[in-house]
Amino acid sequence: MNTSSFVKLIEIKNLGDARGDLVSFESNKSIPFQIKRVYSLLNTIHSRGYHAHKELKQVLVCLSGKCTVILDNGFTKESVVLDSFNKGLLIEAMTWREMHEFSKDCVLLVLASEHYNEDDYIRDYQTFIKLVSNAQNTYAV
Ligand code: TYD
Repeated sequence: MNTSSFVKLIEIKNLGDARGDLVSFESNKSIPFQIKRVYSLLNTIHSRGYHAHKELKQVLVCLSGKCTVILDNGFTKESVVLDSFNKGLLIEAMTWREMHEFSKDCVLLVLASEHYNEDDYIRDYQTFIKLVSNAQNTYAV
């Protein structure tokens, strides 16, 4: 049985000092792609996500509070708690994601490799499963 995890975590260094914490995100350095868009989820009172992206890569960082992210590559589901600004969660393309259990004070920062493009979304789970299965069959030898 293959028990290896497909979750990719990035350590975000705290550059702070006695004055307080400081974190920095740089394209193609700490963040493994060119950042084209930054957005944030705040005051979230309901689970969200429930989609995958065809091309988009993202890094999620919980700057304050916590939330739980479920990742699904079509074969395995994994759950990751984001509760520290030291922890970046890299979400590759073709990964179904759901975000749950947002604390009241959760500030989730999202760094994205592309501009917003609705055509890049896969919002139907069965369509996602079909696409990953087809890709698997195409590459299987
Ligand atoms: P969406 O990504 O669908 O959020 P979730 O899947 O978590 O519900 O985004 C919600 C809405 O916000 C959607 O109508 C598109 C819009 N939106 C933008 O215009 N730009 C963005 O960068 C993002 C992330 C969303």
